Amino acid sequence: MTRRRTAVLISGRGSNMAALLTAARDPAYPAEIALVLANRADAGGLALAAAAGVPTAVVESRPFRGDRAAHEAAVQAVLEAHDIGLLCLAGYMRLLTPFLVGRWAGRMLNIHPSLLPAFPGLDTHARALAAGVKLHGCTVHLVTEEMDAGPILAQAAVPVLPGDDAASLGARVLAQEHVIYPMALALVAGRAATPPAADVALSNPLPTPPSLPKPQSSSE
Ligand code: GRF
Repeated sequence: MTRRRTAVLISGRGSNMAALLTAARDPAYPAEIALVLANRADAGGLALAAAAGVPTAVVESRPFRGDRAAHEAAVQAVLEAHDIGLLCLAGYMRLLTPFLVGRWAGRMLNIHPSLLPAFPGLDTHARALAAGVKLHGCTVHLVTEEMDAGPILAQAAVPVLPGDDAASLGARVLAQEHVIYPMALALVAGRAATPPAADVALSNPLPTPPSLPKPQSSSE
């Protein structure tokens, strides 16, 4: 099996990146994390990746302020140098331009901490609490030009519990992010993932459609 060479793009602590690294330790996992790239040298996830023996790169976005496409061109050059075939955004705090989105159409995934299309953008947990929703969660989707709006690959729902604040709700969601992101990457990289237990996550589409009973002939 050829494992898809995958880069994870981060800006911060990198817990989703770490979940992807863990999943990819299994030689049967269809993706190999071949690069972790950050747009800030102080992204905490870089040290985690380096400790795991994964190549890392930093393409600072600050010097490119005002010219997002030029920053993306520099990122693209690093991705090409590492022969990358799939991209996972994992807390990568950059709005992307058509330059990168177009080149990676169908091959760039993102994880978002809400049940899209509800609560695109920032501060999702506080907004979910303010809206009074009873279910919240996370979504892995393909990246398109519209922010947080591409085709949905996987979602996990969690309850909003009495007494929740944004931190407690966010922690409950994050635990599910770590479940569905490896599952969604496996789907895209070419292997039917094992669906997680129904009480912890919902996936859409289900990797294997349930077999339906054959219709009975009936005289009614
Ligand atoms: C996660 O909540 C993810 O959904 C959002 O940014 C956060 C990144 O966290 N896009 P981490 O860096 O993966 O821990």
